[in-house]
Amino acid sequence: MQDKLVIHGGRPLRGEVAISGGKNAAVAIIPAALLAHTPCTIENLPDIEDVHVLIDMLRWLGAGVDFRNNVMEVDPTTVDKYDPPEELCNCMRASYYLAPVLAGLFGRAEVPLPGGCNIGARPIDQTIKGMQALGAEVKVERGVLFVSAESLHGAEIYLDMPSVGATVNTMLMAVNASGNSVIYNGAKEPHVVDLANFLNSMGARIKGAGTDMIRIVGGRPLHGSNYAVIPDQIETGTMMLAAAATGGNVTITGAIPTHMEALSAKLLEMGVFVGDEDDRIIIRSDGNLRAVNVKTQVYPGFPTDLQQPMASLLTIASGSSTITETIYESRFRYVEELKRMGADIRVFGRTAVIDGVDRLIGAPVTATDLRAGAAMIVAALIAQGTTEISGLGYIMRGYEDIDKKLRGLGASVERIYGDER
Ligand code: EPU
Repeated sequence: MQDKLVIHGGRPLRGEVAISGGKNAAVAIIPAALLAHTPCTIENLPDIEDVHVLIDMLRWLGAGVDFRNNVMEVDPTTVDKYDPPEELCNCMRASYYLAPVLAGLFGRAEVPLPGGCNIGARPIDQTIKGMQALGAEVKVERGVLFVSAESLHGAEIYLDMPSVGATVNTMLMAVNASGNSVIYNGAKEPHVVDLANFLNSMGARIKGAGTDMIRIVGGRPLHGSNYAVIPDQIETGTMMLAAAATGGNVTITGAIPTHMEALSAKLLEMGVFVGDEDDRIIIRSDGNLRAVNVKTQVYPGFPTDLQQPMASLLTIASGSSTITETIYESRFRYVEELKRMGADIRVFGRTAVIDGVDRLIGAPVTATDLRAGAAMIVAALIAQGTTEISGLGYIMRGYEDIDKKLRGLGASVERIYGDER
């Protein structure tokens, strides 16, 4: 029997909850630490499965890694391999951030690419284009990304779309290239900016991260630094949605409110109170929610990673809402699970039409991917009765102590371990 979350729904969330460090920032910053000539200390890392996989990966490559109390010490000086193993790379998409790093260190990298994904095709053509422009030879054979980078030079790279992965990989390679580079149409997500800030703290010179033109001065020696990762934008959003959905009154601490503007605007439109002060966001709702239309977009638009838990909230809003997914071709698999709980949702291509119902009813459901897991949690918190969520492995990849945090807000959430049943 696999691990499950068992949630008895219907209790308004109340109290304070602290946000952990950002997953998508962490998975870029940890590999980047290998580029330093001296050890790094990275603080505010989330204690999640993806971070543990990266620790195994760094140790396998020869690095010294110590991780406790959300702080990681990385000693990159002993790294002596450029070909991480398939069984670790397969566990997470971001393992390919090691390719530009290892190619920068060794002139070559061989990184197995993760296989199929539950949210649709995730091509890497823009990463390949960026690396090739910088002088690397790149090929994908038998599912492995081979990079040969004997001499890297600065370049101007125009990305066809503002891809997070391509922007990260190009930036990680450009810091090792001789001469200046410019990335046009780069991703502006907070985690891309956080990676640039981390690299700058190591001695790199990157300007313009957070805009669509990023300038990189290459070839500067990089040293270890002490750096704290930004709070997780998506965990913050998930908590905001859970608070609003349960008619709660929650103060979210350790967040960056400006990262949440697209969601805050939608919640206000739905009739939810959203306030903020410094690193705190206050969500209050009386449970009377109005339908809205949502379209996912790159930052600062509405994040695709909040599309699923937003859908759970909309299932009980009065009226008819729509969600249009523009980033991924197939990110509505969780809809069938919500329907098992009584949601009224119809999907037409990339648009889901959600007609609000009076209530959801608890049911056994499965998290089909990480953010689908967040959708199941929000739905379970609203639902009458008991919901058992399986597929917990996905949720634990990205949410630190989600069960404990929700219990701290008064929810009835129990984590059942497979071997306990
Ligand atoms: N795309 C291409 N070619 C490329 C790269 C991307 O066509 O070379 C397309 C993809 O197919 C996709 C879109 O562009 O349709 C967005 O891809 P992007 O490269 O921006 O996404 P990513 O780097 O693979 C990161 C996050 C995702 C998040 C997306 C969008 C990390 C580790 N992952 O993925 O996070 O959904 O950006 O914001 O940063 C999650 O946390 O649950 C998650 C999936």
